[in-house]
Amino acid sequence: MPDFRALVALREQRGELVRIAREVDPRHEMPALMAQCEARRQAVLFEHVRGSRFPVVGGVLNHLQALGWACGSVPGEPFGEDDLLARVDHALAQRIAPVTVPAGPVQEVVQQGADVDLTALPVPTVFEGDSGPFITGACGIARHPETGALNVGVYRVLVLGRDRLAVNAVPGSDLSAIYRHHEAAGTPMDVALVVGADPALLMAAVCRLPAGDSELGVAGGLRGRALELVRCRTSDLQVPAVAELVIEGRVDFTHQVENTLGEFAGQYGTETAPVTVVQALTHRRDAMLHAVLAGRHAEHVTLGTMATAGLRRTLAQALRAALPPLADLHVYLEPALGSMAHVVLAVDKADDDTPQRLIDAAFAAPVPVPGGTVPASFLVKRVVVVDRDVDVHDLADVEWAMWTRTARATKFRIEGGVESWDLERCARRGSGSLRVAVDATMDLADRERLRRTVIPGAATVRLADYLRPEAP
Ligand SMILES: Cc1cc2nc3c(=O)[nH]c(=O)nc-3n(C[C@H](O)[C@H](O)[C@H](O)COP(=O)(O)O)c2cc1C
Repeated sequence: MPDFRALVALREQRGELVRIAREVDPRHEMPALMAQCEARRQAVLFEHVRGSRFPVVGGVLNHLQALGWACGSVPGEPFGEDDLLARVDHALAQRIAPVTVPAGPVQEVVQQGADVDLTALPVPTVFEGDSGPFITGACGIARHPETGALNVGVYRVLVLGRDRLAVNAVPGSDLSAIYRHHEAAGTPMDVALVVGADPALLMAAVCRLPAGDSELGVAGGLRGRALELVRCRTSDLQVPAVAELVIEGRVDFTHQVENTLGEFAGQYGTETAPVTVVQALTHRRDAMLHAVLAGRHAEHVTLGTMATAGLRRTLAQALRAALPPLADLHVYLEPALGSMAHVVLAVDKADDDTPQRLIDAAFAAPVPVPGGTVPASFLVKRVVVVDRDVDVHDLADVEWAMWTRTARATKFRIEGGVESWDLERCARRGSGSLRVAVDATMDLADRERLRRTVIPGAATVRLADYLRPEAP
C-alpha cells in the first residue's frame, strides 16, 4: 500500500498531479490555485513557495479512490463509501499495533530551541476572514491520560509565530477531553503534529473512535502492516518514523487564542484553543508540506468522509430502529446541504397523517453518540417523507417531489428553538436553530391526478439490444 510519498507519485503517474514551478504566495494565491486543481480532481505540487524552501503538496486525498488506494484497493477498481466503511470495519476488527524503531527519515534534520522557525514553513492562509496561516494536513498526537494510549486526530493548527501555535480541538473530540484533564490537573501536556504521515494514519485519525482507543492500530489494520514509530526528541510521545515533518510542542493552558477558519460547510467557525510552545521541529532533508485546502473543498470533504460515513450509518440505523418499516431511507450529510444531516424516508402510506407521525418519530429517534444518546433533531436539519416511487438516494428526485406534490400549507412545517450540535454555525446559543419537516407525499385524493409520468416498460428496454453490433 502506498505511503504518503508513494501516493503522491501514484497521483503523478496517473496524470492527476499538476506541478507548478512558478513562485506562489502562500497567502491566498496558493489556495486559489489549489481550489482550481481540486475542481479538476487533481492534486498539485508547488515547487517554489515565497518565503520558504519547502515545497507544498495539496489534494493528495481529494477523491475516494485515493483513500481506497491507501488501504489496498487498486487503481481502476470502483471504490465508494460502502467499500470505505467495509475497510474501516475490517481494520477495527483486525488492528495491527505499531512497532517502535530506533530511527526514521522524519528525524533526518532536527531543530530545537532558537533554531525552530515555523514562519519558514510554507503554510497557506486560505480565506480573507481566517485568523492566519493554518496547518490543516497534520495528525495531532497526544497521550490519553488514563489509558496511556496515543490518541491521534486531524486538527487545524494556527501558526502564531516562530515557536508558537494553537492546536484546535472541537467540543466532543478526544483531544478536548485530554486538554480538560491536564488543565484541571495542572499537569504538563505534550503534543506532536505529524505532516505527511502514512495516508492510512490520516484516515484513521479522522475516524471517531471510543476515547482511549488508539487510532494507530486502526491505521495498521487499514494498511495491512504495522506503522513504525520513533520516539520524539523532547517528549515521551512517539511519531511515525516515515513522515515529512514533525512539530513537537508543550501546551501552555495559561494562554488561549481565538482562531477562525473557513470550514467544510463553507462558513467560518471560531473556536478557542490553548497556545502550544514548540520544542522541536524534525523533518526529512527534502521534506514537503501537505496542505489540505480548508473549507468546502474536495480533500477536506473526502477526508471528512472518514467521520461522516460512520455518522450517516449510525443515523440510518437509529432511524430504522425507531420507525415502523419503511420502503426506503437515505441520510444525506454533505457540504452542499450545510453541516447538518438531511433525512429522506420513502413510505407506502395508508392515510394522510402517516408522514407527519413519521417525521415526529424521526426527529425524536435516539442516536448513540460518544457518552450517551441525542435526539436525531440534534443532528438532522430536515426530514422529508416521499412516496415509494421517489428515489430517496437521488436528491434531484426528492426536490421534484417536494415541489410537485405539496399544495396544503401543512405539508411544510418549521420548528424553531431546537438544540443543535456545535458545527451548525447558524444556530444561536440559548435559542438553538430551526428544523424543517416536509410531507412530500401525494395526498391520497390526488394520487391519480399527480401520478408520475412513466414510459411503460422503459426500465427493461435496453438501447444496446437495438443497436447494430460493431464490426469485429
Ligand atoms: C481537514 C480537517 C480538519 C479538522 N479540524 C479539526 C479541528 O480543528 N478540531 C477538531 O477537533 N477536529 C477537527 N477535525 C475532525 C477530527 O479530525 C475528527 O473529529 C477526529 O476524530 C478527532 O479525533 P479525536 O476525537 O481523537 O480527538 C478535522 C478533520 C479534517 C479532515
